[in-house]
Amino acid sequence: MRLKDKVAIITGAASGIGEAAARLFVENGAFVVIADIQDELGDQVVSSIGPDKASYIHCDVTDEKQVEEAVAYALYKYGTLDIVYSNAGIVGSMRPILDIDMNEFENMIDVNVCGGAAMIKHAGRAMVARKIRGSIICTASATAIRGGIGPIDYTTSKHAILGLVHSASFELGSYGIRVNCVSPITVATPLTCKLPVFNNFCLDPELIEAFASVTLNLKGMVLKAKDVAEAALFLASEESSCISGHNIVIDGGLTCTSNIYPIDYVTLVIPFLRWSVHKCISKCTSILAVCKSYLTT
Ligand SMILES: NC(=O)c1ccc[n+]([C@@H]2O[C@H](COP(=O)([O-])OP(=O)(O)OC[C@H]3O[C@@H](n4cnc5c(N)ncnc54)[C@H](O)[C@@H]3O)[C@@H](O)[C@H]2O)c1
Repeated sequence: MRLKDKVAIITGAASGIGEAAARLFVENGAFVVIADIQDELGDQVVSSIGPDKASYIHCDVTDEKQVEEAVAYALYKYGTLDIVYSNAGIVGSMRPILDIDMNEFENMIDVNVCGGAAMIKHAGRAMVARKIRGSIICTASATAIRGGIGPIDYTTSKHAILGLVHSASFELGSYGIRVNCVSPITVATPLTCKLPVFNNFCLDPELIEAFASVTLNLKGMVLKAKDVAEAALFLASEESSCISGHNIVIDGGLTCTSNIYPIDYVTLVIPFLRWSVHKCISKCTSILAVCKSYLTT
């Protein structure tokens, strides 16, 4: 029980990494407020975790008032606020710099950067006022430390999160509040499976994982949302009580190599072929099973 009786707000916890963190934090004894804009999904996550341990609040992080209300809600419902995991984010339209749409760019900064800043501001105020030596964690990305491995607007926003974390950790350090971030490479979540470049068509998570896995320096690994949640749990817990302003990069060693994505097209095609053969076999097996059941009845 690494977070026994701690109270946490997690933004973007109706899905993906945030949802995995909500489950893991509760398993470790915390009470969790899920703050998101997907109300139905958020309610479903609360029901499956248990309403005695988790609750949902609609919170669009681009609206500072809603962020302030989410903090007030956690304080009202659980009496304190020890941990904030600012994780909500979007991937945007993925346009290259020559075609960038400035409205989309601003929206990206609004959600990924301003949303995080508003959350640190209001959670920080609540913690300072109550003398809580809390822990604030943000989700940046492996694109926060390298250009060219993600869309330009997304990469810009994630670099900014790193700056936000470094500066906020300096300012809030005087109050004993820690601010850190986690930076994953590709994880199969709705964010990566429903990319706008594919017209929001939902790609098979197994295919995303197969592609992502070959890009890792650490071979034979598939990064899961739970792995990112584990890093956030470490930063939320007392085990990291002396760590602030830090960025835990969860990328299988990719960004520390000088040769980012040292893979050729042939290497990229292999997971796709493997996935297609696997899908074909499982489709044929289920068709055969249906035929067999017809023949035997
Ligand atoms: N999946 C990856 O490969 C990957 C890699 C690096 C970083 N990240 C980051 O991880 C974080 C979580 O992403 P995910 O992969 O779990 O994707 P996801 O789409 O499953 O989850 C993102 C959540 O954020 C919520 N959200 C979006 N806009 C919001 C807003 N304005 N206010 C409140 N909530 C909002 C969504 O409703 C969703 O529930 C994001 O910050 C993302 O940039 C993801």
